[in-house]
Amino acid sequence: MQIPCTSIETTIFNRIAAAAASLNLPTYLIGGFVRDKIIGRATKDADIVCLGDGIELANKVADLFEPRPTVAFFKNFGTAQIKLPEMEIEFVGARKESYQLESRKPQVETGSLEDDQNRRDFTINALAISLNKADFGQLIDPFNGVAAIENKIIQTPLLPEQTFSDDPLRMMRAIRFAAQLQFTIVPETLEAIKVQAPRIKIVSQERITDELNKIMLCSKPSVGWDLLFQTGLLQIIFPQMVELYGAENIEGMGHKDNFYHTLQVIDNISENTNDLWLRWAALLHDIGKPATKQFEEGHGFTFHGHEVVGARMVPKIFTKLKLPLNEKMKMVQKLVLLHLRPISLTNENITDSAVRRLLFDAGEDVDALMLLCSADITSKNKFKVKRYLQNFEMVKQRMKAVEESDQMRNWQPPITGEMIMAHFGLSPGKNVGIIKDAIREAILDGLIANNYTAAFGFMLEKAAELNLHPLN
Ligand code: CTP
Repeated sequence: MQIPCTSIETTIFNRIAAAAASLNLPTYLIGGFVRDKIIGRATKDADIVCLGDGIELANKVADLFEPRPTVAFFKNFGTAQIKLPEMEIEFVGARKESYQLESRKPQVETGSLEDDQNRRDFTINALAISLNKADFGQLIDPFNGVAAIENKIIQTPLLPEQTFSDDPLRMMRAIRFAAQLQFTIVPETLEAIKVQAPRIKIVSQERITDELNKIMLCSKPSVGWDLLFQTGLLQIIFPQMVELYGAENIEGMGHKDNFYHTLQVIDNISENTNDLWLRWAALLHDIGKPATKQFEEGHGFTFHGHEVVGARMVPKIFTKLKLPLNEKMKMVQKLVLLHLRPISLTNENITDSAVRRLLFDAGEDVDALMLLCSADITSKNKFKVKRYLQNFEMVKQRMKAVEESDQMRNWQPPITGEMIMAHFGLSPGKNVGIIKDAIREAILDGLIANNYTAAFGFMLEKAAELNLHPLN
């Protein structure tokens, strides 16, 4: 094998080779698996292409394993899949035609290995390894894919216009691979993306968002987002984000470029978390700024309420991007809404009750919020950054102290609505809510201690004001 394989991988490829030989089908390992092995990345997905019927080959391969794995197949596309514990294998017959996503007839003409390599997206993805007896393990690299890996470049095998017109999603894949592998897209390919960017409109949102999430999970997501912006793709798939771009200046008073600030914040947070949703929160934290921007005479630019406007935009953006509308979305929304709060605590008037309130509002997402906030501290002035971070450290200590004394995380007031109803013989209604809220506010404001006895006493006082009397 001209690629490094484990012994179990070699066993699997030997069996595929045996099955292919028995059917007399020339067969090759191709695409991402070969690429990743040469790069040295872990990989579990193997694509097998044969000059004939991929489904027939898959069935023959399955016969050679004990217990026999299920063969999932899609007759229309001529593809089959086997899932082994160590590897997921896709089988397909070599094709001549390009991807026909818009066509009603998914069948494509059968072709040679060369035809199949021609129609692939990038030279790094068009590498094949022979699984045939005569030259088993030999690398077939007609487009200098290995050199492209060594030189860290993304380039299409054919003219980029044709490759992208066959499947416009490939424009996003180019950018995703550039960000993931830290490779450079060659100028000709990059230029073609700029020209063909509008064609991304014919691709389904699910496929686009899949690539966005992959970009999000890169070690430096800014590389991908900036390329999306530079090529004009971002303007089409996510225009709200482009509105963050630009630093205006009036009468010598300016504001920072919120697009590049946002990219810096995503990179910062990515150094500390792999959580996709936390990274989305970083991407969206200032999304309300363009809509709230104002210039105040003698004062400069303001973005009052951008966190509220931004939080309101989150469900709309998630809906448009077909991201899940679930608890994760709610967390993102909450983080966008609260992202200024810990920073505002660095003012001198920081009080225990302000800290307590923040802990209560953030609930179980308080650690995520703190990660976002420290990532949000970006400035060209190193001294400023240092001072902010020191203040921020102080806030963290303060939160820790309040948390330890009050145990605010997942906190619930010590008196529940049921207890109030039972004590005063009430049915659910307005008065129960008034008493319950008053107890919570009194504890958060530090007016009474955070325990049952204090809350019970306060409940009696509040009920008396409302002319309510205990049952006995
Ligand atoms: N491919 C392509 N055009 C696409 C998608 C895929 O030419 N739009 C080809 C490439 O040769 C690719 C192979 O199909 O290597 C397998 O595709 P896929 O599994 O989607 O991607 P990988 O390259 O394996 O990378 P990843 O798993 O990171 O998506």
